[in-house]
Order: sequence, then structure tokens, then C-alpha cells
Amino acid sequence: MDNHSPAAVIVLAAGAGTRMKSAKPKIMHEICGRSMVGHALAAAQGLDPQHLAAVVRFERDRVAEHITNILPGIIIADQDDVPGTGRAVEQGLEAVDAANGGPVQGTVVVTYGDVPLLTTELLAELVAVHKKDGNAVTVLTAVLDDPTGYGRIIREEDGSVSGIREHKDATEEERKINEVNSGIYAFDAEILRNALPQVSTDNVQQEKYLTDVLGLARAAGGRVAAVATQDRWQVEGANDRRQLATLGKEMNRRILDEWMKQGVGIIDPDTTWIDVEVILSNDVTIKPGTQLHGHTIVGTDAVIGPDTTLTNVRVGQGANVTRSVATDAEFADHSTVGPFAYVRPGTKLGEEAKIGAFYETKNVTVGKGSKLSHLGYMGDAEIGEYTNIGCGNITANYDGVNKHRTQIGSHVRTSSNSVFVAPVSVGDGAYTGAGAVVRKDVPAGALAITFAQQKNMEGWTQDKRPGTPAAQAAQRAQTPQNQIAQEPNA
Ligand code: UD1
Ligand code: MG
Repeated sequence: MDNHSPAAVIVLAAGAGTRMKSAKPKIMHEICGRSMVGHALAAAQGLDPQHLAAVVRFERDRVAEHITNILPGIIIADQDDVPGTGRAVEQGLEAVDAANGGPVQGTVVVTYGDVPLLTTELLAELVAVHKKDGNAVTVLTAVLDDPTGYGRIIREEDGSVSGIREHKDATEEERKINEVNSGIYAFDAEILRNALPQVSTDNVQQEKYLTDVLGLARAAGGRVAAVATQDRWQVEGANDRRQLATLGKEMNRRILDEWMKQGVGIIDPDTTWIDVEVILSNDVTIKPGTQLHGHTIVGTDAVIGPDTTLTNVRVGQGANVTRSVATDAEFADHSTVGPFAYVRPGTKLGEEAKIGAFYETKNVTVGKGSKLSHLGYMGDAEIGEYTNIGCGNITANYDGVNKHRTQIGSHVRTSSNSVFVAPVSVGDGAYTGAGAVVRKDVPAGALAITFAQQKNMEGWTQDKRPGTPAAQAAQRAQTPQNQIAQEPNA
């Protein structure tokens, strides 16, 4: 733990978020593959605090479960009926003190669960200034073109901060101030603990305002200061779906920017979306219309896209994935996927192996150099090395009740339209004939054919479909002159 690690971070997450018009609590809405509160917790966690707490109330159980899933050790503090950010922090601090086995000393950082672009770096800067200057309170501020709705930063002649006035409580004159309170602060724990019980609900909103702590701290002789950030995005919250989309777009832009700095080629940043936990290598090329989600990891020289969506996919070096959708899959080095493949969970494609056009796979292991080139479905199967699966092959893996496995060996050649009725196995070096319905195991080196004798019923079309274009064409084809006349083209 370094100097700058605070005693505690308290993340406020008790608000309702009604403007989202959603059954889901606001802070659980996602951008770039993580919930808003998930981003807030990640930034807080980066400070390596001794204690990390979240204050909850709205949809208490659902929010607490979500937060605990993200950070199992987190302190969950419940806010009671008294409304306001002041009450939220008061109860957050009580829970922290309880977990600590006594009042924490040092710095307490307060952040919001709905401010997703805030970084650990900016929080660390706030804490560093707070500690260096020995402040009672240090508030993070930003200058906005339109400060409507925010608390305004009230400064003295000498530039020091005397307090914060909420928009609803502010005079016309105060509303002209465009430096606003981000709602993110560093407090001295002792001063915060003493001030909060003195905060009343005597204001327009009849809430306990955390912002009142600034005036109380100052009155008690403490130093109150502000750190103004130039990066307004980092203090912006999302209250509705439009703001969520705007913040999501900006976060994505920042993620792409960072990867491009690290040597990833992104052809069209406007149509590329990369989640926060994706890991890329230099010289990866990402073509337009591509989304990389979850824990996707892509190796160097791989080419992804255009129009590809990968979720939790591991892509090896030099692999190529074109116009495809894949989830929970692995593509080894120099493998190729697509165009138009639908790769479902459990697909493991070996080195230099291929899943080609219009192929669907699920729970399949494909060995090195093997190819599923066109038009088929492979589910619950294992395929050895250097095997060629013919066009239109499918596994009949589901008997209507249970799923069964298909085992296909190495250097196998299956002909077009083979069907593998699982459970079934095909030995190394075996072949299948066109249209084979493989119900019995095929030994190594055998050719499996399943056919009924072909029978041609002469004159059937003219007999059964008289007068149709087909019957007329058949008639013409059987006229001797035409047979001769057609010969050059035959
Ligand atoms: C608050 C600040 C305001 C600042 C603004 C920045 C106060 C009194 N005002 O405004 O100066 O400019 O944030 O966005 O602090 N919350 C709780 N419990 C509550 C109320 C809120 O946990 O009882 C949480 C919310 O979930 C949210 C955050 O606190 O994450 C801020 O609440 P919100 O109502 O959006 O802030 P304002 O009161 O508008
Ligand atoms: Mg409010």
C-alpha cells in the first residue's frame, strides 16, 4: 500500500434512477461490457483502499448482489429513510467504521455509482492533492458550458472554496457560476464523521446534503479546496438512456484510442466497439463493423472483421475471422473462420484449421489443419487432425431428449451431405460416400456408403406432368434432330 491509498472509498449507489425508465436499477446498466457501478468500483479499487463500501437502498437486494458479485469483499451499507447524499455517506462511514472495528483515520473518498468514466488516475490525483495540502475536504470540480442542475462551487475572493450551493437552492447570481461539484471528494475521516450529524434537511429538497459538510469543515477551521479537472467526461453521470449512450460512445472512443496507441490497427473507429476487458496485441487488424465483447483476447497479426461479433473468444496469432458471430470459443494460431460462420460455445478450432461459410458449430473440437469448409452443422463432436469434412455435413447430435457425441478421426475425408447420427465414430483415414447417413461406427480406413439403388423411371415427366414446361423440355431433348443439333454444346 502506498502513501496515497485512502482509508476508505464509499461509492454511493442508493438512488432510484427513474429517468432510465427501466426495470433494471440504473447503476446496473452497462457500457463497454461493464455495469456503470462496475466501472465505478474498478476505479475505486485501483486506489487500493483499506476499506471499500457501497451504499444501497433502491432495489437493495438486487444491487447488493450485483456489487458483491463484482467485489466479494465489499462492505454493503444500507441507507435508511432519510434522503440525501449526506445521509448516504453517514451510513456508509458507519459501516466502514464497524468493519474496521473502530473509527477509521485518514482519507475517505466518496464517489458515485453512476459516473462510469472516472479513472483511478484522477481519483489518485485528488487524494494526492488532498494529502499534500493537508485539506479537510478536497472536492473534484469541472467547468461546464451548461451547469444547470449541478451544485455550484462558491469561492472566496482569494480563490479558496467556501462551499457548494445546490442548483435548486441557488440565487440567480450563483446560478451563473459554471464551476460545478462533481460529487466526488476526499475528506478527512474525523472531520467528516463530526460534521455529518450536524447536517440538516433544511433545504428545498429536504435532503441531507453532503455538500453542507464543506461549510461545516471550514467553520471548524479546516481547509477546503478544489481540484478542477479539464476532462469533464470523467465526472459526468448518466441519468437517462441518451446520456448512457453518449458516455458509452466516449468510453469506447477512449478504449480504441488506447489500443491504437499500442499498435492495434482499427480501420474504422466509428463502427468498432471494444469492451473494457478485451485484450489485443499489436498488429491486430480490426475491420469495420466489429464488436469485441467480454474477455475476448486476440493475438498478433490476427485480422478480425468486417462485421464480426466476438464474445469471450480467444483468437490466436495470424488467425482470420470474417463476417462471423462467435461466443465462448477458441481459434488457434492461423486458423480461419467465416465468412458467415455462427460459432457457439465450446468450439475449439485448432491451428490452421477452418470453419468456413455458413457453418454452425457448438461444443466441437477441430484438430490442427482440419476443415469444415461449407454449409453445415457440427455439434458435440471431436474431429482429429487434417480431416476434411465435406460440404453440407451435419451431426445429428440430438435424439429429441439427449445430446450425443460424434468422434471423427484424423485424415478423414467425408463426402458431401454426410450425416453423422450420434453417438457414432469414424476412424482415422476413413472415407464416407456422398449422402451417407452414418449410423454405425466406421473403422479406420473404411469407406462408408449408405445408398438405395437409383432407379430411373423413363418418360415419367411427360406421363405424369403433361404439358408443363418440364415435359416440353424433355420432349425436345428426346427429338433426334435436337440431340444432334445440341451436340456442339454438350
Ligand atoms: C449531487 C450533489 C451536487 C452535484 C451532483 C453531481 C448533493 C447534495 N448534491 O446532486 O452538488 O453537482 O451530485 O452529480 O450532494 N445517492 C444516494 N442516496 C441518496 C441520494 C443520492 O446514495 O439519498 C446517490 C445516487 O445514487 C447518486 C449520487 O448519490 O449516485 C448523486 O445523487 P443525485 O441525486 O444524482 O445527485 P444530486 O442530488 O442531483
Ligand atoms: Mg438528488
